[in-house]
Amino acid sequence: MSEFLFVSDDIVRAGRRFRALQSLAAFTIWDLYDPPALLHQASIIVSDVSELSADAVSRLRTLLGRVRPPNGRLVFVLHEDGPRARAYAEVLGATAVVPASDLKTLSVLVERLVVEGGSVPLSAQVHATRARNFLRETFSTGILTPDEVANGTEVVAQAIGASGVYNWIRAVREFDDATHQHILLVAGLAAAFAGTLCFSAIDRHTVVKAALLHDVGKTRVPTAILNKPGKLDAAEMAVMRTHAAEGYSMLASQGFEDAMLRVARSHHEMLDGSGYPDGLRGADIPDLVRLVTVCDIYGALIERRPYRSPVSNVSAFAVLERMAGRIDPDLVRAFKPVVISPIEEGFSAFAI
Ligand SMILES: [Fe+2]
Ligand SMILES: [Fe+2]
Repeated sequence: MSEFLFVSDDIVRAGRRFRALQSLAAFTIWDLYDPPALLHQASIIVSDVSELSADAVSRLRTLLGRVRPPNGRLVFVLHEDGPRARAYAEVLGATAVVPASDLKTLSVLVERLVVEGGSVPLSAQVHATRARNFLRETFSTGILTPDEVANGTEVVAQAIGASGVYNWIRAVREFDDATHQHILLVAGLAAAFAGTLCFSAIDRHTVVKAALLHDVGKTRVPTAILNKPGKLDAAEMAVMRTHAAEGYSMLASQGFEDAMLRVARSHHEMLDGSGYPDGLRGADIPDLVRLVTVCDIYGALIERRPYRSPVSNVSAFAVLERMAGRIDPDLVRAFKPVVISPIEEGFSAFAI
């Protein structure tokens, strides 16, 4: 029984594509017009149907209904790139569409989906658990010392160096506590971003520490609001927003440097003055704050919550790009290689 399924309307024509995918994982090939009597579920399904007639789409829909689990991924190979084919892909719930001519992109995409569906490397799990334990021990009390935070910062920085940000994200997304998950995602992204920007060890430490501390004020927000499984109402949102000023005063009373205070207070400020708590504009917002804000917004989008699926990396980055004018566009451009691989740039235009 294979978890990976390749469905085609012409098995002979599709042979080259199928063999390429078979070299990545144990794909089984099914003929759309002659599927086996005994069907089984598949976590990754590649649709390689060239003639998208009404009959073919109906058969594909029926087949997917029987073999695709709720979180199953569908990669739709496009043999003609027109609005009709794309509409079918969308209706059928495709995770991504890839042009039939682009075998390399198809291979990279499928390889990534196979890795994503597999288990997280043990080393990344160990590093992430260490960092989460640090948060549990220190952040839950709200009483932090600069020395403790320096140790926690090193745990995250070393973890990103050893496991890479991609495995870190996968490991951290397993955590139930939404705030721990968020803080560790943002800190890991900040570490990877500082690495991409070739920051010195000292500057990298500063960036990771700032990311680790940015939401410390949330320890003063009631957990019923922090962990609410859904949208906050206006009153709850007002309480949530106090975390910025609360974080600032907590860190100020515990001897942290000014740069950390600024990040805790201002990471929700926007360049156009639409942010909070002070409605700062442009040059009033320091570079370190801007950098953490980029990681913060991206981290919030890719979090895994019980009530919603995480946004894909391509879609989350597109949100950042659309926020130009509110967040620093130069930093967003520089952030791209942290979260989008060069090959994904090729297919980002095709991702749904
Ligand atoms: Fe925040
Ligand atoms: Fe945050």
